[in-house]
Amino acid sequence: MTILDVLAEDAAEAAQNLGGYAMGVDLANAEATATTVDAAIAARGGVDVLVNCAGIFRLTPLLEITPESWDSMLGINAKATMITMQRAAHAMIPAGGGTIINIASMAAKKGGAMEAHYAASKSAVVALTRAAALEWGEHGVRANAICPGYVLTDMGAATRSTEQVDGWTRLSPLAAWETPMTSRPSPRSSRATSRPTSRARRSTSPAAW
Ligand SMILES: NC(=O)c1ccc[n+]([C@@H]2O[C@H](COP(=O)([O-])OP(=O)(O)OC[C@H]3O[C@@H](n4cnc5c(N)ncnc54)[C@H](O)[C@@H]3O)[C@@H](O)[C@H]2O)c1
Repeated sequence: MTILDVLAEDAAEAAQNLGGYAMGVDLANAEATATTVDAAIAARGGVDVLVNCAGIFRLTPLLEITPESWDSMLGINAKATMITMQRAAHAMIPAGGGTIINIASMAAKKGGAMEAHYAASKSAVVALTRAAALEWGEHGVRANAICPGYVLTDMGAATRSTEQVDGWTRLSPLAAWETPMTSRPSPRSSRATSRPTSRARRSTSPAAW
């Protein structure tokens, strides 16, 4: 397993804990993304499974999205996904197949206020996944996308107000946020009540990401 992330030290620590390797790469840089993925595949002698999980999120009113912000969001979340899929498929197809798992979002399906460019980027990830499944399936490459709901990660909660976290908890059919594999307190028990109010954002309307 090789973890690629712009936070190279964090990736190295995770790889050490999980027994794998790590490489630093900024997915905003298309050329670096391609060469780093190629290098990772060459170093391991191939690739069986590609997971595209890295991504960014910003709450931005539609009227305030700039072309630069759009390019950044679509570049990291969608274009980089396309590039890593292409690089992996170039290795998987001659080897007889492989598995691609793309982390999209429920935002791809339902959109949401304040997140037009994030939802567009995740819709692109779903479209890329469908195309890959249809084009590469005959070569043994399976491609699937996962559209998570609310997950209590840095992205999922660190940019939210206490009111938003509580509001989205109530919207969840399970009345709780999903959590990463590591054990964390449930949002009801502590996180929601301990969050600093300084993070409060102006929107409390339901959104998805
Ligand atoms: N947290 C949620 O509620 C939620 C919901 C639906 C989908 N998702 C998706 O799940 C995936 C993981 O999100 P998360 O919640 O763990 O977020 P996170 O912010 O905790 O982790 C995102 C990771 O992506 C990396 N990253 C960001 N920009 C990068 C760049 N330019 N180059 C390389 N790496 C970069 C970060 O360093 C970080 O390790 C994302 O694709 C996100 O869109 C999250």
